[in-house]
Amino acid sequence: MKDTIILGIESSCDDTSAAILKGNQILSNFIAGQSVHEQYGGVVPELASRAHQENIVPVVSTALSHAGIELKDVDAIAFTQGPGLLGSLTIGTSFAKALALGTNKPLIPVHHMKAHILAHFIDDASENKPTFPFLCLTVSGGHTQIVRVESPMIMEVLGNTIDDAAGEAFDKAAKMLELPYPGGPLIDQYAQDGNPLSFQFSKPKIEGLDFSFSGLKTSFLYTIRDQVKIDPEFKQKHLNDLCASIQNSIVTILMSKLEKAVKETGIHCVAIAGGVSANSELRNRLLAKKAEGWMVSIPKFSYCTDNAAMIAMAGKLLFENGIIADQSVSPQARLPW
Ligand code: KG4
Ligand code: ZN
Repeated sequence: MKDTIILGIESSCDDTSAAILKGNQILSNFIAGQSVHEQYGGVVPELASRAHQENIVPVVSTALSHAGIELKDVDAIAFTQGPGLLGSLTIGTSFAKALALGTNKPLIPVHHMKAHILAHFIDDASENKPTFPFLCLTVSGGHTQIVRVESPMIMEVLGNTIDDAAGEAFDKAAKMLELPYPGGPLIDQYAQDGNPLSFQFSKPKIEGLDFSFSGLKTSFLYTIRDQVKIDPEFKQKHLNDLCASIQNSIVTILMSKLEKAVKETGIHCVAIAGGVSANSELRNRLLAKKAEGWMVSIPKFSYCTDNAAMIAMAGKLLFENGIIADQSVSPQARLPW
């Protein structure tokens, strides 16, 4: 039987991406980032939509040509329906709908956060594929969740953030340190040369499997403010230690809830997904859990942050389960789980 070929399109935030999946193998995964936001310290939705509009045609053409695939060979078109920025989602959705209509191909609506999880099933995603049921810590710029994954179609959110997302906590801390957006990867980088125990910040006391990062953010802000009063050069002098300490605090919060979830569910197969799963401290702390009998799945870097490969993979699994949208489908900024 011929392998299914899926074109995936991702435009939920500030990256325009298109990918071609054949079977479970990625043939191309092309991403156009948007440097226009750097000067504003965060994503400006209006500018993101405009950049998606400019990028979408060349990005999809490039993904097809890199894969050596012609549009006529594609079996279905998968796109991010939500959650995300409405203007950004609208560009990808409208493009996918028009393409599906023009080529008479099936259209598959994909949930961005579920796609982060399902990226694990791409052939080269990780050394150890998770086996069902598994727990997934899904950590991005907008979400922080522990998800119980029964199958590609059945997932249950066990815990959620009640305020900031983990990626947001990284990015806001980076902003306080005057680092450019997105600051998560830079904190990770500077933390390599810092002492994670240099500074202590307040710890959240949240029941169950929910997360909170706003208290930590305030505690970090006050530490910096108080120390800068004493030494105006404080931030520059202690950059590595501050990055290592805030990273340690964020990762400790994530790991303690994940440990609790493993204990409560008895599920020892654990995966991570989303942009923050690129964080080296989180990856190391998770790997260390193998010694306690956890089976750990860590996606390769290119499938952690936003990409269309994961949309194509999720699209394929939905397609196999008969999920197809008609032309009335619309983007949803807060697409329910
Ligand atoms: O999944 P993603 O690419 O986009 C959303 O769907 O939000 O996640 C982006 C987030 C940003 O907050 C970024 O700072 C964070 O992931 N991030 C990291 C690292 N790489 C990306 N945070 C910490 N350490 C990293 N290495
Ligand atoms: Zn994402």
